[in-house]
Amino acid sequence: MDTTASRTHFDPAAPRRLADGVPPHWKGAPLGAPTSLREFAASGLDALGGDLPLPLLLLREDAVAHNVARMARFAADNGVLLAPHAKTTMSPELIARQIEAGAWAVTAATPSHLNTLRRLGVQRILLANQLVERAAIRWLADELARDSTFELACLVDTLDSVALLDRELRAAGAPRPLAVLLEVGTPDGRAGVRTLEEALAVARAVSDGAALELLGVECYEGLTTSGASVPEMLATVDAYLDAVAAIADGLDDAGLLATRLISAGGSAFFDRVLARFPRPAWRVVLRSGCYVSQDGGFYDALSPLSGRGHDPEPLRDALELWGVVLSRPQPGLAVVGAGKRDAPYDDGVPRPVAWRSADGERGRDARRVRHAPQRPAHDDRPARRRLRPRRRRPRPLRRLALLRGLRLLARHPARRRAAP
Ligand SMILES: Cc1ncc(COP(=O)(O)O)c(C=O)c1O
Repeated sequence: MDTTASRTHFDPAAPRRLADGVPPHWKGAPLGAPTSLREFAASGLDALGGDLPLPLLLLREDAVAHNVARMARFAADNGVLLAPHAKTTMSPELIARQIEAGAWAVTAATPSHLNTLRRLGVQRILLANQLVERAAIRWLADELARDSTFELACLVDTLDSVALLDRELRAAGAPRPLAVLLEVGTPDGRAGVRTLEEALAVARAVSDGAALELLGVECYEGLTTSGASVPEMLATVDAYLDAVAAIADGLDDAGLLATRLISAGGSAFFDRVLARFPRPAWRVVLRSGCYVSQDGGFYDALSPLSGRGHDPEPLRDALELWGVVLSRPQPGLAVVGAGKRDAPYDDGVPRPVAWRSADGERGRDARRVRHAPQRPAHDDRPARRRLRPRRRRPRPLRRLALLRGLRLLARHPARRRAAP
């Protein structure tokens, strides 16, 4: 894998080819006849003016453009390579923007992601998981043979995973060695070696195998944190990164790394990765994904380009989910037509942040609209929202912006189109 190249490339015609239309069965599509994306974009429909059925997830163009550019500049300023995690959106249009902004590679999590990214013509991909499915290994070998410019790296962490990958790639006639990164995990955490001894054994097995090449080391520091205060989170992240660095140094001392390359970094603690792995001694590949949409909760509080870093141009919250107020059956209660099928989440229940009335009046008054504290489990649908009593009866609400701090939605928006 070429770690000196500046950015990967893709087929610029692919996003348009893959975006074939807006069929009426898509959530939020205009009621009635199917339309093409071009017609849809040119139609001048007012998403919040009643032209589209709610609930509706909106992505703010200005915020996305800012976030993509801001993160690309951060990477360039700090001498790191960016391989944004595509699973965050799996959107061809957004991935294309990230590449155009300078992404060195694109990260995938599954063989299906790989397939989709190849349909987009992405030339350099990092699979941030082990590749252990035989059919997927064979597909990969064919893809490497079909396109001599295609570069991929995946993870290994056990002798078994190395043996399987090496054997299957050779059996499938892979035309060149596959780059692999050695994953370093934490006790009771996810995959990855736990000790230097294990790491050395797996790395030696890679160098003994004919079909593999050990490019560097991989870890993911973003999961080491739940339930802790910010200083505790940072201490946990730093301790993990120290352990990873000790293993990486040990592998390097043993002459087992092709490059001093480390891939890490979600969207919350990438500054700690940079602090632990100075450049140019280390080639650092960040895999941050959520920065594209950011969110008003977890990442806003923790990102070094937001709450934790006091950045003058912070990342911006780009996602809004709007639901209609179906009923106000009793004083202080609004029933909203949006629920957890519209707003999957993995880090706290989304909260309402703004409202808009039928005649266009808007507000972001948290005293007027807030999540019902006694209902931590977000309803299936519709969701119920407590309205704080006010001295003056509020005007009837028509729409209610529900969601902020919507981590999973930011990571896996409900894209209705099947993967191509
Ligand atoms: C292995 C791996 N790398 C990178 C990321 C991206 O991190 P984030 O979602 O914080 O942007 C994830 C996200 O879950 C991940 O699992």
